[in-house]
Amino acid sequence: MGKGIVLLSKREIEKMRNAGRLASQLLDYLTPLVKPGVSTLELNDAAEAWTQEHGAKSAPLGYGKSNPYPKSICTSVNEVICHGIPNKKDVLKNGDIINIDVTPILEGYHGDTSRTFLVGTPKPEVEHLVEVTKKCLYLGIEAAQPNGRIGDIGAAIQEYAEAEGYSVVRDFVGHGVSNIFHTEPQVPHYGTRGKGKKIRPGMVFTIEPMINQGTYEAELLKDGWTAVTKDRKLSAQFEHTIAITPNGPEIMTLSE
Ligand code: MF3
Ligand code: CO
Ligand code: CO
Repeated sequence: MGKGIVLLSKREIEKMRNAGRLASQLLDYLTPLVKPGVSTLELNDAAEAWTQEHGAKSAPLGYGKSNPYPKSICTSVNEVICHGIPNKKDVLKNGDIINIDVTPILEGYHGDTSRTFLVGTPKPEVEHLVEVTKKCLYLGIEAAQPNGRIGDIGAAIQEYAEAEGYSVVRDFVGHGVSNIFHTEPQVPHYGTRGKGKKIRPGMVFTIEPMINQGTYEAELLKDGWTAVTKDRKLSAQFEHTIAITPNGPEIMTLSE
């Protein structure tokens, strides 16, 4: 933070596209491993090995000054909103949901993306939360138009999420991302149309709505990272890194 909003060149956006594609391919690689009986540590170790094999580095590992993040990916199960730490005791069971958030660094640039996966067959209302959350991400992306405002994004997400009876997490927001993991602008997933900074071509940032079944309030666990819902109801999340082009948003974190 503190450098203001940087506009990336065509050449830098090409590097973001490459890092973003790799991030998405990493999630594709992990997808068949997400099954009842797997531990979140096994997912972490598979992700770390794959990342190294592809000439990249895991940005989360060691991230943060006073309390460095200890693992390579974030694995947020059920009531965990974000930044769940992979652990061998965290074994997935039928009916769970898990968000896997990956950020490989390739040639200095970050690809930041996450998806929420269904483990086995969750209840229909759980699947509904996940579907609504995914749609929130795409509504947010559509609202990210050149000459619009950052508030347009949160407004689109919040309107839809709340109309479906869910709440939008306030304590964690999308962010500028480039050769720096987290930078300006901040991108709230709630807000007011027409408010906030102007969206301009060359801006690259994430949209990563966290949508809760109950209250939007979060609580931080004693590890200093794991954020859970205050009421321990479920939370889902999807994330893409997007670049603003003169023609609209382009998703960096797509695989074929
Ligand atoms: N990938 C997360 C995000 O979307 C950040 C994780 S920071 C970590 O911004 F240190 F917890 F990995
Ligand atoms: Co992010
Ligand atoms: Co992320």
